Amino acid sequence: MELFDKIESTASFIKSRIKETPTCGIILGSGLGGMIELIENQTEIHYSEIPNFPVSTVEGHAGKLVFGTMGGKNVMLMAGRFHYYEGYGMQEITFPVRVMKALGIEYLFVSNAAGGMNPKFDIGDLMIITDHINLFPEHPLRGKNDSRLGTRFPDMGEAYNKELIEMANYLAGRMEIKVRSGVYVGLQGPTFETPAEYRWLHTIGGDAVGMSTVPEVIVARHGGMKVFAMSVITDLGITDIPVVITHEEVLEAAKIAAPKMAALVQAMIKTI
Ligand code: HPA
Repeated sequence: MELFDKIESTASFIKSRIKETPTCGIILGSGLGGMIELIENQTEIHYSEIPNFPVSTVEGHAGKLVFGTMGGKNVMLMAGRFHYYEGYGMQEITFPVRVMKALGIEYLFVSNAAGGMNPKFDIGDLMIITDHINLFPEHPLRGKNDSRLGTRFPDMGEAYNKELIEMANYLAGRMEIKVRSGVYVGLQGPTFETPAEYRWLHTIGGDAVGMSTVPEVIVARHGGMKVFAMSVITDLGITDIPVVITHEEVLEAAKIAAPKMAALVQAMIKTI
């Protein structure tokens, strides 16, 4: 089946299972599952039930879609995303974003856990992503372009919507939530970076580094969605003290920062 037909069939399956069409999509990063509690009138669909959906394999990622209302808007939340390092192809990783677009979602909120490289950052900081550097070895739009999904050569001058960034800064100020801003570098993992790699990634303009987000954002922009994304800084790559990073520490740090991120995203969705 062609990608377009797969997307349409998955979207119509989902439509048959939900009451209201969502306008905002949310993708949760590792350890950020707490946001689910802010959704009212929930309907859950597990990935294993959804035609054409891959199944998530990483600890800290639940593997379900949650529909309901948040800040008075209909939302669709992905609890558990697909990573390139799990062995999925780019088309599989980004398939849920295509389905969101087919369901009529205009706004995409993406979150992730990331390693900080900006020396001013601390563990537990929230970073608004203002731009990214794509270091994945494969591009999600590689191959024949289907113009029903988007243009062949999408502009990436404003991958992260400026108005949404402004709104986030304004609301964070009012809510007394400290936020950082910066450039996210996306690469494949699953190893964390060597000290030399962290230094290099900072040198080329990166403030945080992680193993997700970039493919999803590219596909969302291909489809013309407005994107807002945030990182929780769960470890620091550039310090004088050698550090050992574990997935457990990443999840722990993410859990602490998660309520702040959830409150901010909720306030943004309410304001949109
Ligand atoms: N590097 C890459 N991915 C990550 C990191 C990191 O330091 N922390 C959380 N995800």
